[in-house]
Amino acid sequence: MDTLIDAIRRREARCGIIGLGYVGLPLALEFARAGFRTTGIDVDAKKVDAILAGRSYIVDVDDAEIAEQVGAGRLTATTDFGAIEGLETVNICVPTPLRKTKDPDLTFVVSAVNEISRHLRRGQLVILESTTYPGTTEEVVQPALEASGLEVGRDFCLAFSPERIDPGNARYNTRNIPKVVGGVTPHCTEVAKTLYEQCVEKVVPVSSPRVAEMVKLLENTFRSVNIGLVNEIALMSHALGIDVWEVIEAAKTKPFGFMAFYPGPGLGGHCIPIDPFYLSWKAKMNGFEPRFIELAGHINEGMPRFVVEKVTDALNGQQKSVRGSRIHVLGVAYKPGVNDIRESPALNVMRLLHDKGALLSYSDPYIPAIREEGIELDSLPLQNGYLGDVECVVILTNHREFDYPYVARTARLVVDTRNALSGIGGDNIVRL
Ligand SMILES: NC(=O)c1ccc[n+]([C@@H]2O[C@H](COP(=O)([O-])OP(=O)(O)OC[C@H]3O[C@@H](n4cnc5c(N)ncnc54)[C@H](O)[C@@H]3O)[C@@H](O)[C@H]2O)c1
Repeated sequence: MDTLIDAIRRREARCGIIGLGYVGLPLALEFARAGFRTTGIDVDAKKVDAILAGRSYIVDVDDAEIAEQVGAGRLTATTDFGAIEGLETVNICVPTPLRKTKDPDLTFVVSAVNEISRHLRRGQLVILESTTYPGTTEEVVQPALEASGLEVGRDFCLAFSPERIDPGNARYNTRNIPKVVGGVTPHCTEVAKTLYEQCVEKVVPVSSPRVAEMVKLLENTFRSVNIGLVNEIALMSHALGIDVWEVIEAAKTKPFGFMAFYPGPGLGGHCIPIDPFYLSWKAKMNGFEPRFIELAGHINEGMPRFVVEKVTDALNGQQKSVRGSRIHVLGVAYKPGVNDIRESPALNVMRLLHDKGALLSYSDPYIPAIREEGIELDSLPLQNGYLGDVECVVILTNHREFDYPYVARTARLVVDTRNALSGIGGDNIVRL
């Protein structure tokens, strides 16, 4: 195993990434930039073809960055898991969704791990990066890999290291976000730490994979609960006739002991609405009933309905009904600056409005089309004059590309869930 540490330090180890999505592709690029010969493995042939052609499908990654590494022979991609045999390190970055029942769905992890097990050889390092419940690495991944006949700590190394990337964040990226690492044995931690030290500015070792797994769930549960809290404060403020945005702006002038979170139409993306339920599931399996997670989930999931109530009331104030009204949604991505609509609350808001008979349209420079059950629409350019013709505009994602003064000037009625029109007054504007 010391040979592996040496090979990593000399950048001679060959690195592999399984799953080339929002997490895996930036990580593969970091390894390649650090000088490692890196192979991305994905079941999606379109992603593999795009990488080989030097094309990016992720907002934070430029075509040129991929083309440079592919051209230099440091990055390649394949759908063939046989490539694992030629690698020294393998990072698993596949999805970890929830089932409809809110139970963890480890199908992708299990399938990737079974592929690794088939090709595992002595001296390799395997790291799980997919967000999951505490215990997954030792209870699910380790037995599957040891089914190969090899033993962790003696024949191969195994660790968990949560990915903390924030797509669309211009300041923090794979390189400058500290990396937490927990190995099954102290030596596994050491080898995994050495690997990340080659391309990440700071590595934070912890005592076990389950601590590393829990770190990620604490971080995301912290966000979910605080967003749930501020959403409840928004609902409360509405009932009390108080402007919640003004309250937050003033509260955040306190230089200690307060961190601003903002209300909105609900939670979206692949992490915050999902990850806490991984923890909740595991806690329940161990006889512990978690309350904050379930409560925050309940409040956050109710926000789309509150937005629709706001739209209904605003139209009512103009003697109009939702049924038959043209309602234009501004921003459907789950957050500003990303081309990701997974779990976006916009989908729920739009479904609810559609069910009430609204005639929907939308604009989002990052999402050219929506093809979801019940919603099949193409994004419309904002500046073509029709905003003045629709009965209501609902702002759900505050992309900075939108010309908000134009929206405020042109639209007859705006329901702003994001405080995007802050500082722009008008009788036609209703805030969350
Ligand atoms: N997106 C984020 O902001 C983010 C941040 C931190 C952590 N995470 C976590 O990282 C993990 C990956 O998330 P993501 O957003 O990159 O997902 P993604 O859907 O963007 O990418 C996953 C990739 O894995 C591929 N894949 C699925 N099954 C596979 C298999 N068996 N073998 C090989 N490839 C397979 C898919 O084709 C896809 O390209 C998840 O656990 C997620 O919770 C995501």
